[in-house]
Amino acid sequence: MNFTSPLLNWYDAHSRNLPWREQKDPYKIWLSEIILQQTRVEQGMAYYYAFVERYPGIRQMADATEDEVLKLWQGLGYYSRARNMLHTAQFVTRQLNGSFPSTAKEIQKLKGIGPYTAAAIASIAFNEPIAAVDGNVLRVISRFFGIQDPVDKPDGRSQVDTLANEYLNRLRPGDFNQAIMDLGSQVCKPRNPLCSSCPIQKDCMANALGLTDKIPMKQGKTKVSEWHLDYLVLTNKGHIAMKQRTRQGVWKNLWDFPETNISSPTVRDEFPEIPSEISHSTQIPELLATFSHKLSHRDITARFFLLHISNTPDTINGQNVIWTPKKRFGELAVPILIEKFWSKHQQNFD
Ligand code: ADE
Repeated sequence: MNFTSPLLNWYDAHSRNLPWREQKDPYKIWLSEIILQQTRVEQGMAYYYAFVERYPGIRQMADATEDEVLKLWQGLGYYSRARNMLHTAQFVTRQLNGSFPSTAKEIQKLKGIGPYTAAAIASIAFNEPIAAVDGNVLRVISRFFGIQDPVDKPDGRSQVDTLANEYLNRLRPGDFNQAIMDLGSQVCKPRNPLCSSCPIQKDCMANALGLTDKIPMKQGKTKVSEWHLDYLVLTNKGHIAMKQRTRQGVWKNLWDFPETNISSPTVRDEFPEIPSEISHSTQIPELLATFSHKLSHRDITARFFLLHISNTPDTINGQNVIWTPKKRFGELAVPILIEKFWSKHQQNFD
């Protein structure tokens, strides 16, 4: 099978000039892989530059506060990545004396790092001969070798793992892995792959059998649940009540507004009840906006109710709040949904 050599030749001629490929600093390669876990290269690049500029090394990152890291991460989503990243920076700096672990096995013990990311870092930064199997690799390998078992089940998955490791170039494992990543994102795309520009088309089974739109086969999709949120946007003389999400979840430690109807998040009242902490209000809450937002496992519909009030209680519906001046709103790390709302409606708070 002509796979590895044409792939690496293609990579030598067509690899993308990505900033984390300019050196072998494990810190920077780790940082790039964490950013790219659930983010496209085009979007992740600006964040990579911003992080490297603010924290040129892992020691500087270890000294950051979580708020600062979350703020810099804002817009990338999946904030547990940022929290785990800070935790790992502190662990490597303080427990490992700043020396990043150098094998996939050790790297995988770090927080926020699974088998794929560990293999990517070990192969790219330390030349360990191990395949890093992500969605791109699943697609390229299953198409090339014509695997017709579902790749989201253990059997199909392990066929891909085995082949990727068998065909891995042992002298250039990092380049081999990144070549497949690039081929998968530039040529062997999920839909409408550019087979006529593909360096390994000649021996590709899916291409020969006309199955590129069927492979990789998948069995099941993850269930997406609906989530209804009603926010109460309370203002008092240019200050806005904000609460920090303390519970476990993708938005942990991010800031949003107090919620209403919190006891039954799927049942909606026409208007939210006025929380008991509000001492005096002459109006009813005004429905300012309804926004939809998709997370991987959740379809969120959020309603934003505006109410001007004349006191500044410390809690709303039992949730602790702070009163933020409008001009300092941008300093808080907020979910994208809240950012979307704010960029469209901030003039309502003048
Ligand atoms: N996606 C994840 N890691 C990557 C890398 N090193 N290069 C390109 N795309 C990637």
